[in-house]
Amino acid sequence: MSVGLVQAAYVVAALFFILSLAGLSKQESARAGNYYGITGMAVALIATIFSPSTSAVTWIILAMIIGACIGIYYAKKVEMTEMPELVAMLHSFVGAAAVLVGYNSYLHAPVMTPVEHTIHLVEIFLGIFIGAVTLTGSVVAFAKLRGLVPSKPMNIPHKHKWNLAAVVVSVLLLIRFVDVGGSVSALLVMTIIALVFGYHLVASIGGADMPVVVSMLNSYSGWAAAAAGFMLANDLLIVTGALVGSSGAILSYIMCKAMNRSFVSVIAGGFGQEVSLDSDEEVGEYRETNAEDVADMLKTSKSVVITPGYGMAVAQAQYPVHEITEKLRNQGIDVRFGIHPVAGRLPGHMNVLLAEAKVPYDVVLEMDEINDDFTETDTVLVIGANDTVNPAAQEDPTSPIAGMPVLEVWNAHNVIVFKRSMNTGYAGVQNPLFFKDNTHMLFGDAKDSVDAIAKAL
Ligand code: TAP
Repeated sequence: MSVGLVQAAYVVAALFFILSLAGLSKQESARAGNYYGITGMAVALIATIFSPSTSAVTWIILAMIIGACIGIYYAKKVEMTEMPELVAMLHSFVGAAAVLVGYNSYLHAPVMTPVEHTIHLVEIFLGIFIGAVTLTGSVVAFAKLRGLVPSKPMNIPHKHKWNLAAVVVSVLLLIRFVDVGGSVSALLVMTIIALVFGYHLVASIGGADMPVVVSMLNSYSGWAAAAAGFMLANDLLIVTGALVGSSGAILSYIMCKAMNRSFVSVIAGGFGQEVSLDSDEEVGEYRETNAEDVADMLKTSKSVVITPGYGMAVAQAQYPVHEITEKLRNQGIDVRFGIHPVAGRLPGHMNVLLAEAKVPYDVVLEMDEINDDFTETDTVLVIGANDTVNPAAQEDPTSPIAGMPVLEVWNAHNVIVFKRSMNTGYAGVQNPLFFKDNTHMLFGDAKDSVDAIAKAL
């Protein structure tokens, strides 16, 4: 392939990536968006592999076959609830790649003018820094999402001063690195600092803010790829990295707004948050109920709202939930769904599950659309949700989730909470909702409980 043809193919691939992002922004066009992305990536790979500057094509194809086999295996195996973990893991690969490309560019720098050489050194330094932060940050995010480490924020004394010190020392090392025309010791020390910095940034962020962290790491991985593009003088990598970096940043900003979090505070590792760490203690007495009583309560209700959460996804209870919805609607009862923006473990998680079970779109409402209606609601079924219905977000300013908008289910006449135990939700915070006078707990696997209610109905 000639150089001109490769550049033309890169422009085509970049256009496909832009179409892909546009497609992914709406539910109806998301499938087409995926296909545009696949096509763009195929064009980019073919152009890169067969470009005149690529050597060792056989090795590249061999590596791609091995990578594709591993990728296909995991993509087929992964459960939807594990998707954010997979995404976090993939971000760590982008970070690792940027670090390796950086060291490779440092060791095999082409012949350049002094000015070009200085720019190249800055690219290498920044590329390795962003890559290393993304690498360890993503590994910690993966471990938190998988439950390998506690989701509570790590709170070392003077944590913000440590973060600031890491940035200042890295800037001084950059000056030294450029000054001496490339010092390997400065590069190595900065890499270690960046790895620890990435670890600390994400470890300091509490469980409820993890959705923002995942999209933020998505953004970092884009900037890491763009930095690698500068080092390799690859225009497509720069464009693609910038697209991923900026779309990840926009998504993080939107999620911060939805969760009433300050964007700067989250990216600075939970800056300014005072959290109480003993918040998983039980705070009173709770009442239990059973499936038959819940069925009777539903039959005498005029309006019912279902607020699903992560537990519905784990139990795969969306099908029996659809069944009871239909049974109640056939009896003239108004049944609607209230969806919190971060319910479950990935954006739109509940919408996807309910669509899969063929629940009609028009009864599935966003949190803002339904929150004022709870006072007029007879019965709310909280199915496997916890943090997203926690009144502590409004009532307790010291709670780790303080200020996060929540579904105000406690305003309804009756609330039934479906879960297996009194355990806390993802953020590790106890939920005062369970101890309110109008709340009853229905213990057990959500699917079994909803099945039993469907039978009783
Ligand atoms: P969570 O607060 O995670 O609570 C889920 C509840 O489901 C748990 O209390 C658990 O209690 C229950 N549960 C688990 N398996 C169950 C089963 N088989 N049957 C019945 N109940 C079951 O859920 P949520 O309200 O959806 O909140 C989501 C949380 O995840 C938020 O803190 C959010 O910030 C975080 N997060 C969200 C995302 C995105 S983008 N959506 C990404 C990462 C993190 P038991 O163990 O007692 O059953």
